[in-house]
Amino acid sequence: MKAITCIRNARLRGKEFLFDIHLDHDGTIAKIEPATGATGTPDEIDAAGGLVIPSLIDAHLHLDLAYSLDIVSANKSGTLTEAILHWSAAKKTMTAESVKVRALRAIREEVSCGVGFIRTHVDVGSAAGMRLCEGVLAAREQTKELVGIQVVVFPQDGILKDRGAYEQMRAGLEMGCDLVGGIAHNERTDDDSKRHIDMLFDLADEFDCDIDCHIDETDNPESKCIEVMASKAVERRRRNRVTGSHVCALSSYNDVHASKVIGLIAEAGMNVVTNPGVNLHLQGRFDRYPKRRGLTRVTELLEAKVNVCAGQDCIKDPFYPLGTGNMFEAGHLLIHADHLSQPEQIEQVADMITVNPARALRLENYGTDPGCQADLVVLPVESMHEAFRLRVKPTAVLKRGKLVSP
Ligand code: FE2
Repeated sequence: MKAITCIRNARLRGKEFLFDIHLDHDGTIAKIEPATGATGTPDEIDAAGGLVIPSLIDAHLHLDLAYSLDIVSANKSGTLTEAILHWSAAKKTMTAESVKVRALRAIREEVSCGVGFIRTHVDVGSAAGMRLCEGVLAAREQTKELVGIQVVVFPQDGILKDRGAYEQMRAGLEMGCDLVGGIAHNERTDDDSKRHIDMLFDLADEFDCDIDCHIDETDNPESKCIEVMASKAVERRRRNRVTGSHVCALSSYNDVHASKVIGLIAEAGMNVVTNPGVNLHLQGRFDRYPKRRGLTRVTELLEAKVNVCAGQDCIKDPFYPLGTGNMFEAGHLLIHADHLSQPEQIEQVADMITVNPARALRLENYGTDPGCQADLVVLPVESMHEAFRLRVKPTAVLKRGKLVSP
């Protein structure tokens, strides 16, 4: 991979004029100076007035699921429940090698779209065994110079419902996974969901790691796991170390209760990840008309200063037949789904695929200031607004100062 010494004629978010971004040989940003107007030598890139941003971040992905649509029975109802059922049957016979091959394809696709960091959930449990985890960890190892990947052990079929899953989560963490995952709403009773959440906190304490839990991924207004999780995060003083993914049911609560719960999420310092394409696709399936949009209350969470991020979630799998790994596409959908169309709101959506997930993933030296890692993306447009409108692909992607795409 070619080391780059300077990105010339670069535009930066929130700044006027053009800059030359000089890179250090240790893979960091050395200095930023007003552009001289020079064009690039062979070890330089000419951004030609295009926007340069830090790596895009996909805060929620399933690498083990990617590109599995054709090898899993068709999800005819389009619901989360049917997808879990078919996926559960299919993963029983999957090999670690086949998972690795599909995960590598998804990683390379995301890198070509400018993604430099991914948080992926990986199934463990009686159907998955440790094979899916092994496949994804092998793919991570093979691509470690292209992208940073955090792996979450994910008991897709429940913990109390699926005996042995908890021990496999522990085994996954011992194998090198980074976070405790969960699916609190996928247990038999509300009491079991509460026990599920307690067990996540116990395991996170045991390994001193963060939690990222699929939670209330349903339109059912009675699904109230998020308030249990947020109150536990307050009790156990886990500020900015707990993420709730999806949180769809929040949109179906009455406004009074939703306001209380949003206050609790803010008090707990929880991160929330919305997955616009998948939430639009899987939710509202029991509605006639009007159909709910399925996403959590993004605007109200932002107003309460909650750190909200956006994820791709799925690429061509039984849960979602589309998906490209292009985070501008996820943002494009989010702008539509929650009416985030004012100029300042479009910038907020830009934060949801850059600085907000950097905070949720607790990345260090992320950004475009001197001293930051030179994990940079050169875009063929002048603004994030245009990037979303055109759902652009980058003209250059750098990881630690080296060109990783194209
Ligand atoms: Fe997910």
